Amino acid sequence: MEDYANAHTATEDAASFARSRLSEKRYDHTLRVADTAAVLARVHGLDEDRARLSALIHDAARETEPEEFLRLAEEWNIPVGEPERQSPKLLHGPVAAELARRELGVRDEVVLEAVRAHTTAKPGMGPLALTLYIADKIEPARDYPSVERLRKLAREDLHTAAIESLRRAIAHNEGRGKDVHPSSRAALEWLESDHTLQGGIE
Ligand SMILES: [Fe+2]
Ligand SMILES: [Fe+2]
Repeated sequence: MEDYANAHTATEDAASFARSRLSEKRYDHTLRVADTAAVLARVHGLDEDRARLSALIHDAARETEPEEFLRLAEEWNIPVGEPERQSPKLLHGPVAAELARRELGVRDEVVLEAVRAHTTAKPGMGPLALTLYIADKIEPARDYPSVERLRKLAREDLHTAAIESLRRAIAHNEGRGKDVHPSSRAALEWLESDHTLQGGIE
């Protein structure tokens, strides 16, 4: 009971934390991702409160200025590669995770890892990280040709949905002549090779 109460308080605090840092539009997105992640968690037998908590935190740093991302990353020893230097907003997941650790006292590494990985995905993502990654892409306001298919897939199999979503994101970037983050390629490779083992790791 105490754990439940703590998790519940944590989600309320995280909602205020996100609200204080975000425009209404992005906060509304955050709430839709939280609801979507909670539904997916329920469907796949994962902890709904953790899914909701990770979603409430995920974009909390999204409206930070580029120089501030780089400054915080340096101060907090967050790895910055060439892609992040070119596009500092790629750091919004790792920076949000660190903010949540420092300001909300979130110590749940599974939640923090999901937040860190939500933008590019990464190899070794666990079920909660996959849930957040997908929920962000299929929340009800998302509208692109394959979104309905992804919504259906996400309820059936998180791995397959993540594979489809990454393939789409990579093709989309390539089509626009944009670089693909190495973590996204590595995550796709990992998911494709790991998929047959899915029953063993979930
Ligand atoms: Fe994000
Ligand atoms: Fe998001």
